[in-house]
Amino acid sequence: MKKVEDYVRSIPDFPKEGIVFRDVTTVLQDPDGFQLAIDEIDNLLKDVDYDVVVGPESRGFIFGVPIAYKNHKGFVPARKKGKLPCETVSMEYALEYGTAVVELHKDSIKPGQKVVIVDDLIATGGTIEAIIKLIEELGGEVVKVVFLMELEGLKGRDKLKGYNVDAVIKYEGK
Ligand code: PRP
Ligand code: MG
Repeated sequence: MKKVEDYVRSIPDFPKEGIVFRDVTTVLQDPDGFQLAIDEIDNLLKDVDYDVVVGPESRGFIFGVPIAYKNHKGFVPARKKGKLPCETVSMEYALEYGTAVVELHKDSIKPGQKVVIVDDLIATGGTIEAIIKLIEELGGEVVKVVFLMELEGLKGRDKLKGYNVDAVIKYEGK
């Protein structure tokens, strides 16, 4: 019986030397791999009471949407700057080189809503840290954050102290 990690393609030295790129396209393109990935993420949420799923553009959409659909929850896209048409809240966060901005519609999360965040990967944790701040600014409560993959060597969890964080696949390195 294959495990979900068996479907991840690892590419050494991409995008630069010393980094092992964890490619999820090989998970997605395989019907068993894709189903397994969604089911394993969903399994990490089985005891969680939540109202809505937030997924970061763009790989977070791929994994967050099926979870929301499967559990009859709403889905809220956290988008890159300038993509959302109505009033937004936005937050800048650090990338390896430079910064990026993530946005949510102001009316996407209602005060008191219980929110789950789903993304493909936690690396430095900067993306999710920014999104958590936006959700909280709107009055939402982040009850769990789930990733398909975690790069433990980058210590992203340190940025998410106090939150319930889980990952299906944990890689020791970067
Ligand atoms: C990647 C990945 C995560 C994020 C993790 O997204 O999909 O969302 O980086 O990095 P962090 O933990 O250091 O913040 P990216 O911004 O490359 O965009 P994409 O999802 O559109 O490919
Ligand atoms: Mg992403």
